[in-house]
Amino acid sequence: EKGGYDYFMLKEIAEQPKAVADTLLGRIDEAGRLTLDEVRIPDHVLREVDKVVIVACGTAYHAGMIAKYAIEHWTRIPCETELASEFRYRDPILDQRTLVVAISQSGETMDTLMALRHAREQGAKVLAICNTNGSTIPRESDAVLYTHAGPEVAVASTKAFLTQLVACYLVALYLGQVRGTKWGDEIRSVIRELSQISTEVEKVLGTMEPVRELARNLADKNTVLFLGRHVGYPVALEGALKLKELAYMHAEGFAAGELKHGPIALIEEDLPVVVVVPSPRGRSVLHDKIVSNIQEIRARGARTIVIAEEGDEAVVPYADHLVRIPATPTLLQPLVATVPLQVFACELATARGNEVDQPRNLAKSVTVE
Ligand code: F6R
Repeated sequence: EKGGYDYFMLKEIAEQPKAVADTLLGRIDEAGRLTLDEVRIPDHVLREVDKVVIVACGTAYHAGMIAKYAIEHWTRIPCETELASEFRYRDPILDQRTLVVAISQSGETMDTLMALRHAREQGAKVLAICNTNGSTIPRESDAVLYTHAGPEVAVASTKAFLTQLVACYLVALYLGQVRGTKWGDEIRSVIRELSQISTEVEKVLGTMEPVRELARNLADKNTVLFLGRHVGYPVALEGALKLKELAYMHAEGFAAGELKHGPIALIEEDLPVVVVVPSPRGRSVLHDKIVSNIQEIRARGARTIVIAEEGDEAVVPYADHLVRIPATPTLLQPLVATVPLQVFACELATARGNEVDQPRNLAKSVTVE
């Protein structure tokens, strides 16, 4: 049932192009507009929403962090993303005009369930983004957008994450479409790009051998750092989380702008640092800033592993290892940038002799708070 792969995780990583395409299936009409009738929250209610709050745990929380950038940019509705386990304990401000989005692969995560129950008690509308049909979280929500990734067996989440991202983009773009914003043209063009993204994910998967080889060479390291900015920051956090849970290594993700506020003190000779580089076309200021971060850490001895868009030549002189990803619209980059980090963690775990599908101390669904 592993379909010829050694681990479910490898199979699920390989299934991502199809999973992403399945999340989009039937949700974009011939005119290139989104049709999310299944989300039974009427358009007039969505037009009234004045705040979006996303709650989730772990990898799903990282998808939610990325969704915040997308929702605020395309809809201009203030959005916050919060760890489900923290949410209700701070007495959050919610009312009928708040849309709460609960993201969960399993649909059974107790922290997320308790957060959405709290939100509904306060009168907020809850939309679940979920992979498991008929699970508790969608049953207790006002509406659900299923990710259709297919069953995810490996404990470490991979294809569920990519499809959560796609579902988040759909929600953001749909809210933008329903409400009408100044980004109408951009929204239409991003929908077009999104419908092609599965091919780009496929391309990345075809170029992963050097990443595997690099992972094998780093198997005796103790620490790996991850840096990113904008939507690359949650990607860095996700890369670090995958490495902790699978390789049992110390791994940390930072917003690259925070380097000088502390983390740069960690840089020492031959420390592997993975850097997710924003597109030089989109937010070019951020691109240039991160290139100087790479320069700075390399001057202090870091071994730089740079994930950068095809054609980005500015990074070449400072990259000890260069991983190319296809050019995508800025906000969609996590769909291609995360894949090498999944492969990296999986291969490191294998090289260290760890049980890839069943990491120690972890369970696939966490049904206690
Ligand atoms: C990481 C991982 C966990 C889950 C988290 C939430 O690889 O699998 O961090 O993402 O426990 O689980 P769900 O999405 O089922 O609510």
